[in-house]
Amino acid sequence: MPDKKITLTTLRNMKQAGEKFACLTAYDATFARLLDDAGVEVVLVGDSLGMVVQGQESTLPVTMDEMIYHTHNVSRGCSNSLVLADMSFMSYATPDQAMFNAGRLMAEGHAHAVKLEGGAVMVETVKQLTAHGIPVCAHLGLLPQSVNKLGGYRVQGKEAEAANTILQDSMAMQEAGADLLLFECIPSSLAAEITSKVDIPVIGIGAGVDCDAQVLVLHDMLGITPGKRPKFSKNFMEEAGSIQQAISNYVKEVKAGTFPGLEHSFS
Ligand code: KIV
Repeated sequence: MPDKKITLTTLRNMKQAGEKFACLTAYDATFARLLDDAGVEVVLVGDSLGMVVQGQESTLPVTMDEMIYHTHNVSRGCSNSLVLADMSFMSYATPDQAMFNAGRLMAEGHAHAVKLEGGAVMVETVKQLTAHGIPVCAHLGLLPQSVNKLGGYRVQGKEAEAANTILQDSMAMQEAGADLLLFECIPSSLAAEITSKVDIPVIGIGAGVDCDAQVLVLHDMLGITPGKRPKFSKNFMEEAGSIQQAISNYVKEVKAGTFPGLEHSFS
């Protein structure tokens, strides 16, 4: 890792230069330090902590206080990585609520940017947050906080109309001032098309190799999540002798464009 703080400008420059960057989740200072040392550009404090830390069935029970607690711990472990933190379920249902809670995540949690789920419906919120100096990552495609509405964790954007909605949502988010997009579980061809159309960096998970960056849940890529590994993930511990080596291999594979392979992607 170059001994230099990663900023949104760094990530935009990397996109322009066609250089891929790596993102992984962390929930505590020790793992955050390992990711920072391995050159992971973006450390995501995901509300996946509901499942992998708290043992909940979904991300919905996670509170803003818990997000702030874990984000502050992660921020202490990061010297160079950009710390991106999730807004918890229903913490951004109105623009005013979003301003209050995102402000806490930045001021008390020491996040550098916040992530929220949703497209066109979030335009006003994203406009207000970014106008007040809060960088936003818009999470599109499979939205885990809407799992009850979606009827399960399914690939999104397979039909032409749904694909067009994701494209329009992406453009609307960029227009509203979002600094990053994150696509979860959408067809690779759709992710590739939108990534080439937008100026802001796109992070993918189950969205194919052509996104500007990749993210995985740390516990999935270390092979310690109980149950079946999601198709889009890979157990990097299988060929590594240590956690440090697994993280370093992930960074190398993301940057080289060898992860994700077709077997981790959707068509
Ligand atoms: O909460 C999380 O870890 C996430 C990733 C799945 C992208 O949002």
